[in-house]
Amino acid sequence: MMIRTSLAVIPLLALVACGQATQSGETKPASEVAAKKEAAPAAAPAAPSPSPEDAKMLASLPAPYNEGDLANGRRQYAKCRSCHVIEKGGDNRVGPALHGIFGRTAGTAAGFTYSPALKGAGFVWDAGKLDQWLADPKGFLPGNRMTFVGLKQEKDRRDVIAYIKVESAK
Ligand code: HEC
Repeated sequence: MMIRTSLAVIPLLALVACGQATQSGETKPASEVAAKKEAAPAAAPAAPSPSPEDAKMLASLPAPYNEGDLANGRRQYAKCRSCHVIEKGGDNRVGPALHGIFGRTAGTAAGFTYSPALKGAGFVWDAGKLDQWLADPKGFLPGNRMTFVGLKQEKDRRDVIAYIKVESAK
């Protein structure tokens, strides 16, 4: 009886020891971990391809926005949603409605009370202007009232601009 018990315990201990060895082995070489992280996106499953209509809108954008990832654009746009409505006929909220924003003169959504800075900006929104605005809202147009820090990653801006292009025209 005693022999049986100790025999059963040995493989268990070996398993535990094995598990620990693997864990510490993975945390040790930081360079390997970094390399693994970098390689991850390539191995990720491809995003579902956009509908023909969405693809057409996407293709009408200049580079690099025409290669925007709409799935990430949607995720990034979640940061805008608390203040902006992009759907057709959408209301102004904290921020102006964004439907039809491409080709619209800045500061001209009907019924929205803009800051003098945005009202007097006088340019037409396109991908490049949105990029500058979203990179640094305060710096791009001092005195505006959009209390949003911006999107620091170039790729996130590219993707959200692609998403806005597609969604604001529907
Ligand atoms: C905390 C609320 C808030 C968030 C979050 C926010 N905005 Fe705004 N946005 C505003 C306000 C307020 C204005 C109007 C600013 C003014 O009048 O100076 C504005 C203005 C704009 C304009 C100019 C529209 C026009 O009619 O000229 C664009 C474009 C815009 N926002 C895009 C975005 C995008 C894209 C995001 C997300 C990445 C975002 N905003 C996040 C509040 C917000």
